[in-house]
Amino acid sequence: MTAPAISVSGLRKAYKDRSVLDGIDFEVPAGTIFSLLGPNGAGKTTTVNVLTTLLDADGGTVRVAGHDLATDARAVRAAIGVTGQFAAVDELLTGRENLQLMVDLNRRVTGDGRRIVAGLLDRFELTTSADKPASTYSGGMRRKLDLAMTLVGDPKIIFLDEPTTGLDPRSRRTMWSIVRDLVADGVTVFLTTQYLEEADQLADRVAVLDRGRLVAQGTPEELKRLVPGTHVRLRFATAADLDAAAGVFPEAARDDDALALRVPADGGTKSLRAVLDRLDEHSLSAEGCSVHTPDLDDVFLALTGHPTEVDAK
Ligand SMILES: Nc1ncnc2c1ncn2[C@@H]1O[C@H](COP(=O)(O)OP(=O)(O)O)[C@@H](O)[C@H]1O
Ligand SMILES: [Mg+2]
Repeated sequence: MTAPAISVSGLRKAYKDRSVLDGIDFEVPAGTIFSLLGPNGAGKTTTVNVLTTLLDADGGTVRVAGHDLATDARAVRAAIGVTGQFAAVDELLTGRENLQLMVDLNRRVTGDGRRIVAGLLDRFELTTSADKPASTYSGGMRRKLDLAMTLVGDPKIIFLDEPTTGLDPRSRRTMWSIVRDLVADGVTVFLTTQYLEEADQLADRVAVLDRGRLVAQGTPEELKRLVPGTHVRLRFATAADLDAAAGVFPEAARDDDALALRVPADGGTKSLRAVLDRLDEHSLSAEGCSVHTPDLDDVFLALTGHPTEVDAK
């Protein structure tokens, strides 16, 4: 077992007398993607700011890359890269100049700075725009440049605060593949997001933050399992077929508009086969059949009692 890249225990933070983080605990194994998921105002940026030494905690213990944040903030800073919620790109400089500035400022960089810059521009497909001012870049290009700047010095742990908020779907997918590549290279990624799909797509583990508390943690699959409601959905050709099937599956919920039945089942092959066998025994056939597992939206609602869009007050 290698030591976790990040471990947080009992973390508290208040602004004046207003508690924002109310005792949170989690661990991030090295080389994995951990996603902190929560709506606006949940405390995501506050968590990132504490973990990256920008903000002092009021209580609890945080270790990053094996270093205690309270006593060894300098060592923590040397091990991490941070891409904030708002791009740190200097608009007046070109993409290349922004990167060169990071290389010049970074004491960890050894070797040929210009080659490092050229390599990053190439990797993030920014070479053709490298010598234009960043003010002319699209949102997606700016985020990519920001992330490229974070990678100068090869940090082993990277914090990404809402890396895809406001991006169009295509740029979002590009960003996702960049994040996956980072982890394939052995980097640990701590990522915050408001997008349930993003956590589901990227994260090995997800923690759901709501009003300063972690209301759930686990793999995306584990979180989905917390919510009852996995079912087999059978769709029929006619209302008569639906009626007949409803008689066979009295436990099912029916959707008359869609000519469908929702039969509770655990999603495994055995229960699916049992449903199909029962149809067969009554000489019925469905036009379509699918297994529905709840998504993270369902999870959030079930865990917190309110949807993700509601601003936590
Ligand atoms: N510097 C600050 N002073 C006072 N309150 C703050 C400050 N920064 C954030 N907050 C409050 O703390 C809560 C959590 O904020 P934040 O961590 O930015 O949430 P998120 O990033 O999840 O949207 C919000 O209610 C926000 O208004
Ligand atoms: Mg934020």
